[in-house]
Amino acid sequence: MRSEIELPNGNPDTRLGTLLPAEGENGVFAESWYPVCLSSEVQAGQIRGETFLDGKIIIFRGEDGVARAMSAYCPHVGADLSVGAVVGNNVQCAFHLWEYDGSGTCVKTFIGDPAPKKARLFKFPTQECYGIIWVFNGEKPHWNIPEFEVPDDKITFRSYRFPDYFNCDPWVFAANTPDMQHFKAVHGAQFAIDDPHANVDWDDWGFRYKIIAAHQKGIPIEWTLGIRGTSLFWQEGPYGDFWIGGLVGFGLPVVGKHEVFAVLALENVEDESLVEERFETAEALMHRTVGEDSDILNTIHYRPGTLTKGDTTLSRYLKFLRAYPRSHASGPFIK
Ligand code: FES
Ligand SMILES: [Fe+2]
Repeated sequence: MRSEIELPNGNPDTRLGTLLPAEGENGVFAESWYPVCLSSEVQAGQIRGETFLDGKIIIFRGEDGVARAMSAYCPHVGADLSVGAVVGNNVQCAFHLWEYDGSGTCVKTFIGDPAPKKARLFKFPTQECYGIIWVFNGEKPHWNIPEFEVPDDKITFRSYRFPDYFNCDPWVFAANTPDMQHFKAVHGAQFAIDDPHANVDWDDWGFRYKIIAAHQKGIPIEWTLGIRGTSLFWQEGPYGDFWIGGLVGFGLPVVGKHEVFAVLALENVEDESLVEERFETAEALMHRTVGEDSDILNTIHYRPGTLTKGDTTLSRYLKFLRAYPRSHASGPFIK
């Protein structure tokens, strides 16, 4: 017993479209700010190693309290400095005890030989912001990590590092924000207005727009959403009767993956139990939203083929991604 043979009804003459540049393709990565660890993971006097791009970096905090990020391998003979120590504001290699200062320059050898001029670590632009340490891939940052509309002294924030990597490049997650179709289809948002493609506020390094919608269970939201570069999402606005600020950074710890770091911010109110209750709501919302995206992000082979009018902003972001600057100045140092 066998079924009839299913015959093709004329195969499509359009294949899926062209691929976007993958991170690491031709040895370069998007010049964007990437989260590398939580501030709380590097106390003063501590050093830690993190994989980043296609190599490894160290993040350390000297007695001046400043977090700095540099290439991990000692230019002497290549020991991994993450197993070294912080001495004052310097990093000391565990192998022959050479010391590197806050600029990455070798300032001392243990046996007293003069420090070779060429003995330098690659120092990344580094910034600490909302409890996360961010590293810029490139010599000079193109854009700043955004601040919430509510000033810092009026908010309480918490920062998070998600336990599992996602199986796609950071920009794939970033491309969810201009993808207005997906807010409705994946996250159950019902827009109260026409898709605001015409009101998206673009600049050279990203965009922002406002959505007025009913979220799941009909909760009214009025959020401003935005993307900076290829690796940072931020949103703010009312969720029902309170304001939530959210910042999500997409790290690049390994080629082909990204790692999610997030900040949730709430406006200060007198009643601490109310703050706790709101954090619980905001955390549940964040985990649910990322959870709704995760199977898709972990399996997608992102390849824009046939876009529609509903993809107007997505289409512009994909163009932005294709033209985005990529480089790898730290390449010779971090591997
Ligand atoms: S390898 Fe670092 S001091 Fe020798
Ligand atoms: Fe999403």
